[in-house]
Amino acid sequence: MINASNRKMKLSGALLLLGIFGSFPVFAADGGTDEAGREYALKGAKTCLKCHDEYPVKNIFQTPHVQKADKRTPFAAHECESCHGASPDHLIEPPKKDQGEKHKPPHLVFGLKSKNYKVSSVDDQNKVCLGCHESGIRMHWRGSQHQSGDVPCAACHAIHQPKDPVLVKTDQAEVCFACHTDKRAQLRRRSRHPIREGKVVCADCHNPHGSAGRTLLVKNTVNETCYQCHAEKRGPFLWEHQPVREDCTNCHNPHGSTQQRMLVQRTPFLCNNCHSERFHPSTLRDGSGLPPVGADNRLLGKGCLNCHSKIHGSNHPSGPRFTR
Ligand code: HEC
Ligand code: HEC
Ligand code: HEC
Ligand code: HEC
Ligand code: HEC
Ligand code: HEC
Ligand code: HEC
Ligand code: HEC
Ligand code: HEC
Ligand code: HEC
Repeated sequence: MINASNRKMKLSGALLLLGIFGSFPVFAADGGTDEAGREYALKGAKTCLKCHDEYPVKNIFQTPHVQKADKRTPFAAHECESCHGASPDHLIEPPKKDQGEKHKPPHLVFGLKSKNYKVSSVDDQNKVCLGCHESGIRMHWRGSQHQSGDVPCAACHAIHQPKDPVLVKTDQAEVCFACHTDKRAQLRRRSRHPIREGKVVCADCHNPHGSAGRTLLVKNTVNETCYQCHAEKRGPFLWEHQPVREDCTNCHNPHGSTQQRMLVQRTPFLCNNCHSERFHPSTLRDGSGLPPVGADNRLLGKGCLNCHSKIHGSNHPSGPRFTR
């Protein structure tokens, strides 16, 4: 036979396993704390709002997490404590005589840093979110660069904001720039993807939650990632240009470049990384070789691309040199 208090122990045991309710009120020794726990059980979020009747905290009521009718949401269960954990110690003001003593923090404090308390460990923070969000695009979170780099979900996601900036196309990059400062500089270069304009976002190419491919790419390879939007470069071509097939970043920097077309270098130097200069002269044009003496028509229209215009591959029967 199971009596009521036994059942309560069992329940709190199960919640402990979930790693959320480390300090369930039933274990609290102190009467005030116990009472606070009971008040929370009765009034839920209202208990917190007595002290936290402020923005941005209250903005959470405009987010999808606060759909009581949707059983999957935190607010259908323990409301604020579904995420912040049972926090009976935090619900009571410290006694006057302990003015010097700090107010006890809630069970979980999220983010990279907090004004008042030590933030919880990244693992403890993320466990709560993953409890509801492990599937879908977060399938590869474990072992991903951001997981092993100790990045909390809350470093990118602003849970208490009605519009989480990282989910807004024009604002997403700014969230990433906070840590990837070099990318901010690259995206100011003259040739770049229209990321600042919100037409392309980091998440079009990267899955920040982890991926099966390298560098958090959304597809298995760089090229598959680019073909999502540049399908015409996929081919197959009758005449393939090997470095194009291999990796677009042989010639392009997807984050931006000071050269046109996001090229990593300008021609002819780009081409001459791989192609011998001997065959086609690629020295800067000078007086020699100009008409009327010994004119070489390759010198006159010297830009490699003037003739090899189908640089990504050609389907023309006589286009083996990508000239048509
Ligand atoms: C008796 C008043 C009181 C109650 C009730 C209360 N808090 Fe707090 N809380 C505070 C004070 C004081 C601070 C620290 C100063 C501040 O942020 O205003 C704080 C800070 C916090 C912080 C950390 C803020 C930071 O610095 O990152 C979180 C999270 C938090 N409370 C959550 C909750 C939750 C969840 C509840 C309800 C379960 C709750 N609080 C109930 C008084 C209270
Ligand atoms: C879905 C999980 C979740 C729920 C539910 C939730 N919080 Fe939070 N809370 C967070 C995260 C994550 C942060 C860190 C800051 C951020 O992401 O906005 C946070 C931050 C806070 C802060 C610190 C805010 C600041 O500006 O420093 C307070 C206070 C707080 N929460 C109180 C509450 C209260 C009160 C409730 C219930 C009304 C609640 N939280 C519900 C996840 C949650
Ligand atoms: C109790 C389960 C639960 C917990 C815990 C939880 N979430 Fe959610 N979350 C949901 C549900 C349900 C939705 C709505 C999904 C939908 O509508 O498909 C949601 C939506 C979201 C969204 C999309 C919001 C939008 O505006 O579309 C983000 C981002 C998110 N959660 C992040 C987090 C993070 C980060 C944490 C941890 C701090 C967290 N969640 C904790 C259940 C949860
Ligand atoms: C490095 C930044 C970053 C981190 C860390 C991060 N996210 Fe996200 N999250 C994003 C971006 C960007 C999107 C939008 C993805 C898109 O548009 O495809 C997103 C979308 C989401 C969504 C809504 C979209 C969906 O289909 O599910 C949820 C839920 C979510 N993240 C949960 C989490 C959880 C849980 C964690 C921690 C385990 C986490 N995120 C960590 C950047 C991040
Ligand atoms: C809180 C800091 C932080 C934020 C915010 C952040 N990152 Fe990261 N990111 C890291 C850390 C730490 C690593 C792992 C260490 C490393 O490889 O530099 C990483 C790694 C990566 C990598 C893989 C690098 C590699 O060489 O494999 C990519 C891609 C990436 N982040 C993209 C993003 C995107 C996109 C966003 C915004 C949606 C974002 N990051 C937001 C800290 C952050
Ligand atoms: C058009 C696609 C695309 C977009 C958009 C994009 N990236 Fe990348 N990113 C790549 C590719 C491709 C690589 C290199 C992959 C490789 O060679 O493994 C890369 C590499 C990275 C790396 C690791 C190597 C390095 O260069 O430091 C980081 C970090 C990164 N990207 C962050 C970001 C951030 C932050 C954003 C948004 C501001 C972003 N990326 C937008 C395609 C993209
Ligand atoms: C989400 C869609 C998307 C993806 C994925 C994408 N691009 Fe783009 N790309 C664009 C858009 C949009 C433009 C701008 C077109 C314009 O301005 O007319 C562009 C332009 C370019 C340009 C020409 C820039 C110029 O100055 O005219 C190059 C080169 C390029 N992308 C290379 C790549 C490479 C390499 C990849 C893979 C790493 C890639 N793109 C992935 C959407 C994408
Ligand atoms: C061998 C070097 C090289 C490789 C590899 C390469 N490109 Fe290019 N790409 C160029 C050059 C050179 C230009 C400039 C052409 C011009 O200005 O006429 C260019 C221009 C572009 C443009 C803008 C003009 C146009 O043709 O649409 C896009 C988009 C583009 N490349 C995408 C890609 C994608 C996607 C890949 C990988 C599948 C790739 N490139 C691989 C050299 C390369
Ligand atoms: C990353 C190395 C690399 C770069 C950069 C590169 N190529 Fe190539 N290219 C190759 C390889 C490898 C082949 C195939 C050679 C073969 O099949 O013998 C090739 C083939 C060619 C061919 C056909 C030659 C033949 O023998 O069939 C032409 C023409 C050509 N490239 C022009 C260019 C031009 C113009 C540029 C600069 C815009 C360029 N390439 C940049 C590696 C490169
Ligand atoms: C005026 C037009 C023109 C210009 C400019 C030009 N090429 Fe060519 N290129 C050709 C033609 C035509 C062929 C084919 C020659 C043949 O079949 O004998 C060729 C052949 C090639 C080949 C193949 C060589 C082989 O072994 O068959 C390569 C590689 C090449 N060009 C690279 C370049 C590079 C790199 C540049 C820029 C420095 C360049 N070309 C500039 C017209 C041009």
